[in-house]
Amino acid sequence: MPSEFQCWMSHGDSAGTLPEGFEVTAATENTPIAAVAHPEKQFYGLQFHPEVEHSINGSLMIKHFLFDVCNCEKNWTMDSFSEGAVEQIKDAVKDKKVIMGLSGGVDSSVAATLIHKAIGKNLHCIFVDNGLLRHNEKTQLEKRLGNNLDMNIRFVDAAQTFLDALKGVTDPETKRKIIGNEFIKVFEAEARKIPGAAFLGQGTLYPDIIESKSAFGGPTSIIKSHHNVGGLPEKMQLKLIEPLQLLFKDEVRKLGLALGIHEDLVWRQPFPGPGLAIRIMGEITAKRLDILRQTDVILLEEIRNAGLYRKLWQSFAVLLPIKSVGVMGDKRTFAHCVAIRAVTSNDAMTADWARLPHDLLGKISNRMINEVEDINRVVYDITSKPPGTIEWE
Ligand code: XMP
Repeated sequence: MPSEFQCWMSHGDSAGTLPEGFEVTAATENTPIAAVAHPEKQFYGLQFHPEVEHSINGSLMIKHFLFDVCNCEKNWTMDSFSEGAVEQIKDAVKDKKVIMGLSGGVDSSVAATLIHKAIGKNLHCIFVDNGLLRHNEKTQLEKRLGNNLDMNIRFVDAAQTFLDALKGVTDPETKRKIIGNEFIKVFEAEARKIPGAAFLGQGTLYPDIIESKSAFGGPTSIIKSHHNVGGLPEKMQLKLIEPLQLLFKDEVRKLGLALGIHEDLVWRQPFPGPGLAIRIMGEITAKRLDILRQTDVILLEEIRNAGLYRKLWQSFAVLLPIKSVGVMGDKRTFAHCVAIRAVTSNDAMTADWARLPHDLLGKISNRMINEVEDINRVVYDITSKPPGTIEWE
């Protein structure tokens, strides 16, 4: 371990004096006691965050502590995690039924696969097609989970219901509220068709609960009584089952692979619940959804061909609420404008705009304009988060 390195600390309190038997093992310019040790009793304390990426050597410190001080064994593997989780789910659920919403994303797919492994046909998944999905989303999910794993999945086509509810709406927050409420209505109606459901499965990850300071640790840590699906669990008297609640995204991906989920699904970039609605500025219509989907397909195809899909946290197209003048062939055009958004990030809390190669951007722009009717201009978003957000609405 080098004698000097960068670590991440952000706090208002500091220790003024050392307790008896302790010695200072690290200090900074303005924190004379940044780490302490009691060599005889093998007590160690840190006043910085070894677990964050910005603390160089942080993982090394944690490793020393676990294996050299605590003599832990390296027996936590994805397989052992998976086996333990399956046993816990079996114990908790017994012969009852679990219902679960599938979004087509990594988290819910991995959670469902784990629950399915534990209770098989007693898991009932519901996939709500809200008409705001990317091209082919439903078919892919059906292929990857439904057919391959023989999972009970109910597909509900609610596209028209969502479109009707969103008619004429342009305000981003109103869009989100309408979509959230419609989802609950549709999900609840479908869930009521499954008699005897006692649990609601969810793909909640550790970062989702970090701030709720939940207490965990016992064999029933996989079951929690809190609820965050718009009051649904409470209303239907369901208990939540969240088998991924102690995992981070990269671990969920590893688990997904260990469970045999196809890597296309495991490596999917995150996609927001309100879907393409928050990537269409202004009113959502079937026509505008169609335009956005076509540009999005081109974007993803080119990003994949360039070998960049997994390196980017997200990459997508945004349909802007403006039309601009152009010239195609010998004709003047007045058509829609699309923005390309591509970001790198670890956790979506902060993100940097991706430095995509200019040639790639050029190719994407050409294809969008040539292949999608009604598009005559493409721009690239060079805003990081903060101050921007990843999504445009
Ligand atoms: P923002 O736009 O806030 O997004 O920087 C951060 C991450 O969250 C996703 N996102 C959502 N996911 N429901 C979701 O399930 C939502 O309402 C929602 N809004 C944003 C976004 O895609 C990004 O990964």
